Amino acid sequence: MRKIDRLVILTGAGISAESGLGTFRDEGGLWAQHRIEDVATPEAFARNPELVHRFYNARRVQSAAAEPNAAHHALARLQSEFPGEVFLVTQNVDGLHEKAGAEAIHMHGALSRALCATCDHRWEAPTEMQVGELCPACTAPTARPDIVWFGEIPYHMEHIIGALQTCDLFAAIGTSGQVYPAAGFVEEARMAGAATVELNLRDSDMSYAFDDHITGPASKTVPAWVDRLLA
Ligand code: OAD
Repeated sequence: MRKIDRLVILTGAGISAESGLGTFRDEGGLWAQHRIEDVATPEAFARNPELVHRFYNARRVQSAAAEPNAAHHALARLQSEFPGEVFLVTQNVDGLHEKAGAEAIHMHGALSRALCATCDHRWEAPTEMQVGELCPACTAPTARPDIVWFGEIPYHMEHIIGALQTCDLFAAIGTSGQVYPAAGFVEEARMAGAATVELNLRDSDMSYAFDDHITGPASKTVPAWVDRLLA
């Protein structure tokens, strides 16, 4: 069996579900309650910034109150104890990986950050962002949540693709495989010859592309998987 030195782990909303944060596409999920076109596109923000801020303000409050669960803690332990590299990339905009003590690349941005649409300056977001808030660097009234919206390019792609091209094992945890480019990471890792494993409550749209599947709630499956990797 190939020795595992480099791991890439992709997480999605499912890893935070047991911390009380709703997913997007499960029954009653965020995209059943809100239309993507109303709250998660640059056009939506241009049309109705108040509605978009209200959506992300509510999520910021909820995310700040949430605590990491056993799955986040297990990944933090893996990152600190695994002898090789553990590259953790998340689509989540909550801060639960960091709260558990892990370092994660946030490819879809972070609720805790604000971004100036004029000069790209970033700073810590207040809990409640307001329409027309001034950028502390250039003073333009163009502050927005530092979230990657539909139609925008996810962050850190070069770094992520580089990690995928040199990894030995790729794991996707709690993601439906419906949003690209993250949904394509499994193929990128396979092309690099990596083994691939999916951890999810149920089959995802990308299940067919994985070698192995571990089915169940992340708070149970992830700690057990991490124990095996560290054994
Ligand atoms: P989704 O809501 O699309 O998918 C959540 C996945 O988590 C599903 O496959 C569930 O089966 C699984 N799941 C739910 N509870 C779980 C649990 N307790 N343990 C394990 N798995 C569980 O969320 P994402 O795939 O993260 O982007 O969505 C990807 C992107 O689409 C998000 O980052 C967001 C969204 O639109 C933007 O907003 C740009």
